[in-house]
Amino acid sequence: MSRTLPISRLRGRARPSSSLLQLPTELQKLSSSPTSSLRHASPSRSAWTSAIPGLSSATPFASTSTSSSLLAGSSKVALQDPLKLLGAEMGLLRSNVQHLLGSGHPALDTIAKYYFQAEGKHVRPMLILLMSQATNGLAPGWEQRRDQAAAAELKREQGDEGLGGDDIDEPLSPPSVLNDQNPSMLASAKSFFSDPLASLRPAPTPTSIAQSIHQTHLLPSQRRLAEITEMIHVASLLHDDVIDLAETRRSAPSAPSLFGNKLSILAGDFLLARASLALSRLGSNEVVELVASVLANLVEGEVMQMKGNVPGKEGLLAGAGGGSTAKGPTPEIFDHYMKKTYLKTASLIAKSTRATTILGGCGVKQGWAEGEKVKDIAYSYGRNLGIAFQLVDDMLDFTASAAQLGKPGGGADLKLGLATAPALYAWEEFPELGAMIERKFAGEDDVEQARHLISRSSGAERTAALAAEHSKLARQALEGLPDSEARTALDNMARDTLSRKK
Ligand code: FPP
Ligand code: MG
Repeated sequence: MSRTLPISRLRGRARPSSSLLQLPTELQKLSSSPTSSLRHASPSRSAWTSAIPGLSSATPFASTSTSSSLLAGSSKVALQDPLKLLGAEMGLLRSNVQHLLGSGHPALDTIAKYYFQAEGKHVRPMLILLMSQATNGLAPGWEQRRDQAAAAELKREQGDEGLGGDDIDEPLSPPSVLNDQNPSMLASAKSFFSDPLASLRPAPTPTSIAQSIHQTHLLPSQRRLAEITEMIHVASLLHDDVIDLAETRRSAPSAPSLFGNKLSILAGDFLLARASLALSRLGSNEVVELVASVLANLVEGEVMQMKGNVPGKEGLLAGAGGGSTAKGPTPEIFDHYMKKTYLKTASLIAKSTRATTILGGCGVKQGWAEGEKVKDIAYSYGRNLGIAFQLVDDMLDFTASAAQLGKPGGGADLKLGLATAPALYAWEEFPELGAMIERKFAGEDDVEQARHLISRSSGAERTAALAAEHSKLARQALEGLPDSEARTALDNMARDTLSRKK
């Protein structure tokens, strides 16, 4: 028997026959009113510019081959490796996050920044920055938006304290209210709070940020969104490592193993608080709404994972039609796993890649109807890439060692009682896995036996195949955007997520 996970249902559907702005199949469901005039455009910049009123005279950064300093130079080499491509940006991101996380309390300061010291993959910020570059310039009024942002940056760089309302570092409440002091605060904390903007000032950079807006085609608000997203991701890792009893992360001792569970949880909360503060200053309720919903999604996904594979039921096999005698996972169990995968991992990527297009001018209140399509494209790309990413993660848990991963591996999920895609697929081939899954691999030798059965099954291969389906959907979504180097880099990231080794 070969039961398939939900996405397989998409396989048989006919792909749209023509054209650039014809939305990929999955997006057609999301887009309520496709604009027929855009359906016949060819996949080129001119198609975009001519199809969209008011855009033809603009120069979308997304479409200019030499537009980005990040993408300039030996772009062929760079494009093969977006990690190298955005290396300088990632350095800036790390130093900005250090500033955003500054705390007067030494312990909190240390723990909150701990996971940022190791060189993470920074997948999420890279996706946001590349999606920004791939879509900036499409919405009308881009030049004005960019020039206003550059002017605000310039004022700040010149030390002008009377910053304009557009500045992402500008508090909205008076410092006396925003940073009112706790009387029992440590002296060091008081000095920190006496300069409330200090933690929000970007690190000095050799190139002025104001100048770089024109070179990189990234708005400060989009960079900040990338930083916020990474802070949320790291907050979730701090909590996750407590839940998963993880001893290592990023090839180093985990935060809980170094600082303890309580401080790790509090540090995660602190990251969320600072991320929320920065989020409030981006000036978009639509973005706030999306990111706030991600926080709920992360928790929902984690709780779904913790509670087992069937919603509302205690046992993993409840609802599977006969407890441990069940022959294999039901569609309900697969659906639950896929939903959990979206909530736990893909939601953050999907909603933040969508959010950056809002900052670039595609917001619902910005009066550009076609912005809805751009947002849906970004969302579909992020959603499918995120699902592919987590599926590969679940596969690597079986196929890679802890040393390769820099975190627990070699079937670590089984030890946590978790049945992920490789185990669910293997269950179809080895029904005896059902009983082990039901008792969350708590029996003596369960983990070893399950690992053995899964390695003999096609579970890992089928998980990889499912990840490939989602990677393909992510790449198809990009076909709705004009050709650009940033789009190629996004495409490569969706492709390369399948072959990553850690
Ligand atoms: C890593 O999963 C964990 C996540 C992707 C999300 C965890 C979410 C929470 C703990 C909910 C709380 C959320 C916030 C925002 C504080 P994994 O264990 O599969 O991956 P790993 O092997 O890298 O640990
Ligand atoms: Mg974990």
